[in-house]
Amino acid sequence: DGKTFKLSNGVSIPAVGFGTFANEGAKGETYKAVTTALRVGYRHLDCAWYYLNEDEVGDAVRDFLQETPSVKREDLFITTKVWNHLHRYDDVLWSLESSLQNLKTSYVDLFLIHWPIAAEKESQEKPKVGPDGKYVILKDLTENPEPTWRAMEKLYEDKKARAIGVSNWTIKGLEQLQSFAKVKPHVNQIEIHPFLPNNELVEYLFKHDILPQAYSPLGSQNQVPTTGEKVSENKTLTAIAEKRGYTLAQVLIAWGIRRGYVVLPKSSNPARIESNFKSIQLSDDDFAAVNAVADNRHFRFVNMKDTFGYDVWPEEAKAAIST
Ligand code: A2P
Repeated sequence: DGKTFKLSNGVSIPAVGFGTFANEGAKGETYKAVTTALRVGYRHLDCAWYYLNEDEVGDAVRDFLQETPSVKREDLFITTKVWNHLHRYDDVLWSLESSLQNLKTSYVDLFLIHWPIAAEKESQEKPKVGPDGKYVILKDLTENPEPTWRAMEKLYEDKKARAIGVSNWTIKGLEQLQSFAKVKPHVNQIEIHPFLPNNELVEYLFKHDILPQAYSPLGSQNQVPTTGEKVSENKTLTAIAEKRGYTLAQVLIAWGIRRGYVVLPKSSNPARIESNFKSIQLSDDDFAAVNAVADNRHFRFVNMKDTFGYDVWPEEAKAAIST
C-alpha cells in the first residue's frame, strides 16, 4: 500500500514500515525477510544498531535495488536508532556512521534515540554490564539528554539523517526535550496496539506535531502481557477479522493507520509479510469495535526498571501502572 504521512519538516514517510528486529534470528533470516518485504512492495524499513543485523538489511537493500532498476534509494525510507551505550555526543555520531556502513547507504531517512536511557560502554561495540547483569546507567546523561540530542541535531544539519526523533519517550521526557531542542523531534516510536492504545501520549504527540510510530502493532505476540490474554486471542478482535475475511493483523494495521500514525509490523514468514502489506478497508463499525476493546493493560514500555534496572520517570511509570 502506498499511503504516506508527512513529518513536521515536510518529509514523506510510508504509513507501513517493515520491522527488522530478529530476536536471535538465524544468520540470513533478516536478509530473506527484508528481500521478501521489498519484493512485495514495502518501501519503509525500521532498523536499529541494537538489532545487530544491519549488514544483512544493507545487503538485501543493495541486491534489491540492483535487481529492480525502477526503484531507487530515494524511494526507500530507512530508519535506524542509536543504542543506550552510545548516548555521548561522539558516540552518537559513531553509531550512525557504523549503521550507515552496514546499511550501505550514505544517509538514513530517520534516526532515533532508541530508549531514554544512557548507559556506560565497554567499547563502542558493546554496552557495559554490571555485576547484577544490568546496564551500568549514566545517570546524568539519562536525566539530561541534551548532549545526545545535540548530536542528533548535528547529524540532521549534516543531512546524514533526513529526520530525527526518539523512541520509548513519555510526555515528561518530551517536555524536557522540547525545552532545549533547536530541531524538534519529528517522531516518537512507541509500543501501540489495542492492549496499549496509549491514547494520552498519542494525543500529545499529534498536538506537538510529532508523528507516532507503532511498534508491536500486532500486540507484542511473543511477550506475555501482564494480564495474560494476548491481543491475538481476544475474541472480539478475532471476530471482527473473521466476519470480513481479513486477518487480524490486517485489521490491526488498518486500525493504526486510521488513527493517524505509522505502523511497523514484522514477520519472518513470507506469506504473512505479504498479507500484512495488503491494505484493507476498515469500516466505521469495525473501527469503533476495535476502539471499544482498546484499553491500556500492558505497560512494558513505560516500566523501564524491569528492562534496564532504572526508571527515568518513576512517577509516570507508577501512575500508568496504577490506572
Ligand atoms: P512470524 O515471524 O512467525 O510471522 P510484534 O511486532 O507485535 O511484537 O509481533 C511480531 C510477531 O507477530 C512476529 O513474531 C510474527 O511472527 C508475528 N506475526 C506477524 N505477522 C503476523 C500475522 N499476519 N499473523 C500472525 N502473526 C503474525
